[in-house]
Amino acid sequence: MQTPPTRNQLTKQKPDWAGEDLLSRFVNQLIRTKPVYAVMKQQARKVLIQTAEKNGVMWRANYAALKASGVQVELSAITNVDVQYPDYYNVPFHAYDQGNLCWDAAFEAESATYAMALRIWKNESLTADQAQARLRSSFHEVLDRQGITNVRDILDVGCSVGISTRTLHDHYQTKARDVNQALDINQTVNTIGLDLSPYMLAIARVQDKNCSISQWIHARAETTGFASSSFDLVSLQFVLHELPRSATVEIFQEMRRILRSGGHIAIVDNNPKSTVIQSLPPVLFTLMKSTEPWTDDYYTFDVEAALADAGFEAIITVESDPRHRTIVARSCS
Ligand SMILES: C[S@@+](CC[C@H](N)C(=O)[O-])C[C@H]1O[C@@H](n2cnc3c(N)ncnc32)[C@H](O)[C@@H]1O
Repeated sequence: MQTPPTRNQLTKQKPDWAGEDLLSRFVNQLIRTKPVYAVMKQQARKVLIQTAEKNGVMWRANYAALKASGVQVELSAITNVDVQYPDYYNVPFHAYDQGNLCWDAAFEAESATYAMALRIWKNESLTADQAQARLRSSFHEVLDRQGITNVRDILDVGCSVGISTRTLHDHYQTKARDVNQALDINQTVNTIGLDLSPYMLAIARVQDKNCSISQWIHARAETTGFASSSFDLVSLQFVLHELPRSATVEIFQEMRRILRSGGHIAIVDNNPKSTVIQSLPPVLFTLMKSTEPWTDDYYTFDVEAALADAGFEAIITVESDPRHRTIVARSCS
């Protein structure tokens, strides 16, 4: 008698719309048809903004406020003129012709991040703030459960406009405060945000109203410039799906170098095994693939194996919310 397949064997490893499947190749062909893509892009933008505003994310008002805020003067101070942008970064992205290297992308990043969180629990009546808080705490809870509590130096890689950086910092600063009270010491958490877009970083800096983040650094995650063994925790939140796997491999090596022995890398991103993601309506996955050029590469990449190859150990993966997975690994000596 044949043994019935286990639940694991039934789990699809990735959506049919990514990789080399017929459906995926059909979608890719559609995207390459320029006039179709141009119409889709405009339609997608309209729907994205309308839906966000209906759910309380004041997209156009936020854009206008940031544009009028004078943040543009921050750009030259935060730009590291020695940074060289890799080819994979110098491409249209999220329907912006200049990808992440423009003000439009930076002015809209916060609204897009709030809209993304709302989509995770769209059947629940959460406010945008509640959804964002839940998204971040579902990531932090995995870190807590792994016993990653004693953290002094944190690097948030691909920090964008700083939402992930500030929430991670607050999480660990609160923990440090509890320890401080108990031991009567005064230990603070040193958190740095790093990104390749100086536009995003300019916004991050002005939004960090309490100046709780030690530094906002313009650099490539592949070559951060930090001394070896500088951090206890590095996070990559929603970054990997924007990268070709060759870049991810390089970044893992760099993270291993800058982490102290026993330090951790923590990754949260789209979960290829999520049934919600695997069942996205065709319009949505087509738009996603058309605006994020490394989608196929990401969904077919074995992230855990790449971490092991880079010398990480104790690698665990947790479905941290219905769409995302959190992967945590330890840097060994
Ligand atoms: C989706 S955003 C991350 C959002 C943010 N971490 C959060 O959770 O809200 C991805 C960010 O990664 C940055 N990025 C992409 N490639 C990078 C690289 N090689 N080095 C540094 N940052 C990179 C982009 O500029 C972008 O701001």
